[in-house]
Formats: sequence, C-alpha cells, structure tokens
Amino acid sequence: MKPALEVLPTAALASQAAADRFTVAAGDAIRARGRFVVALSGGSTPLHMYERIAAGAHASAVDWTRVQVLWSDERCVPSDDAQSNYRMARETLLDHVPIPQANVHRVRGEDEPVEAASAYEGVLRRVLATSAERPGGSSGGRVDLVLLGLGEDGHTASLFPGMVDVHESQHWVRAVHAPAVVPPWRVTFTPAAINAAVAVDFLVTGSAKAAIVRDVLEGLHRPHELPAQLVAAASGRVTWVLDAAAAAGLRKA
Ligand code: 6PG
Repeated sequence: MKPALEVLPTAALASQAAADRFTVAAGDAIRARGRFVVALSGGSTPLHMYERIAAGAHASAVDWTRVQVLWSDERCVPSDDAQSNYRMARETLLDHVPIPQANVHRVRGEDEPVEAASAYEGVLRRVLATSAERPGGSSGGRVDLVLLGLGEDGHTASLFPGMVDVHESQHWVRAVHAPAVVPPWRVTFTPAAINAAVAVDFLVTGSAKAAIVRDVLEGLHRPHELPAQLVAAASGRVTWVLDAAAAAGLRKA
C-alpha cells in the first residue's frame, strides 16, 4: 500500500493537520476498541502539533482516560533532561490534558540502555496485552497510531543509516548506539513494531527536509541507507503530513 501524502501550505497548517489526524484516530480507536494506544515521536517538529492537540477543542474531543501513551523512540537521558522526548511531550501536551499518569509509559532513559529497551519491550507487551512472540503476530495487540519524524540523513525514530537490522522481526524495541548523534544511546521501536501499527503518521516540515523527503519517497529503495523506507505498515496506513517546503522536491506532491 503506497503511503498517503497530505501537503499543507505552511508548517503551522501541517502541525494542525497532524493534530486533527491524532484526534480523529483517537476517536476511531476508542469507538472501535475502547482505547487509543499512541506512540509519540520526538525531536522538534512535533512540538507545535502537541501544543495544538492540547489546545481547547482537541483536548476536550479526546477521552484521555482511554488513551495510552508510548514513545516510538527516546534518548537515553533522565526524564527532566532538555534532550528528553518525554519531557518535550510532557511540557507541550501531557501536562495540559487530563490523562491519568498510569497511562503515560515513558522509556526509562536514565537506566542502562539495553536494560531500558528490554524493560520497554515488556511495557509494550503489557500495554498491548499481548504475549505474541513478534510484533504484529496474530494475537499481537497493535499500536493504533505511531507518530514519526524524519532526519536529514533518512533516519526515523532512532533507526539510523547503516545501523538497522532490516530483517529484525522478533523484537519490538531495541537499544541503539549512534555515535554521530547526541546523545548517542537511544531506545527505539524496531521497524517490525512500527509496521505492526494500525496507522503511521510522519510529520515533516521545512525546506531542509525537501531533499531527503524526495529520496525516501521517490528515490531508489535502499532501506539500509534510508531507514525511513522500512516503514510500510503491513496492514495499516502510512501517511506523510508535509508542509509545501518539505514537499518541494517531490514530483507528485
Ligand atoms: C528523535 C526523533 C527523531 C526525529 C528526527 C527529526 O528522537 O530525535 O525521534 O527521529 O523525529 O530526528 O527531528 P526534528 O523534528 O528535530 O527535525
């Protein structure tokens, strides 16, 4: 299934569109399955999207007692560190909506990375109420929405070029050491965990991302170098929400 594209004129409108998609996905999942399991992305792009979800209409439109929050990746830093994806989401969204603290499942970035990843895999299995051996297995619960960004090198979550076992199918979460980024240790969903989701939404904005968006979406398929190309939800929907600047290199935008 080819990814869907939503191209908005500005970054602000793209953030708004992504926030609207979050709210619709939450309502659909809660109506269909009684809950909404979402994996938040990190970095800077989603900041304004989270602020819009927390603002007025969006916040009241969601039954936050039925929302379970995970992270598609996290930096291995304490939860109050400026680099923490949990801290960013807490400050922009979670502190502003009535979500029970028990429904917020952060990665323990302060712990030893491999242990933190192993513990988080257990959290994921508990939240999804599955003992399925591999992501997306028949009895495997599914994350309803995985949010992702895109790095200028083609990484997504913390799946970095040249560092992804593209055939990994057993684990949901891994610890990765990426010397080129700060901090180098990360905990990330695996491609299999991402692709087991009901839906995956990328939010990418800005002219600096135009070349990599074109390479990922319209270039040669080389997922080892461009890990974002590994995202192709098996039976779910992948949508790229872009602003015009990030979509400027696409032939088919
Ligand atoms: C992270 C993210 C990462 C991010 C991209 C884009 O922890 O940094 O998960 O994958 O989405 O690096 O980051 P920006 O939104 O800051 O450009």
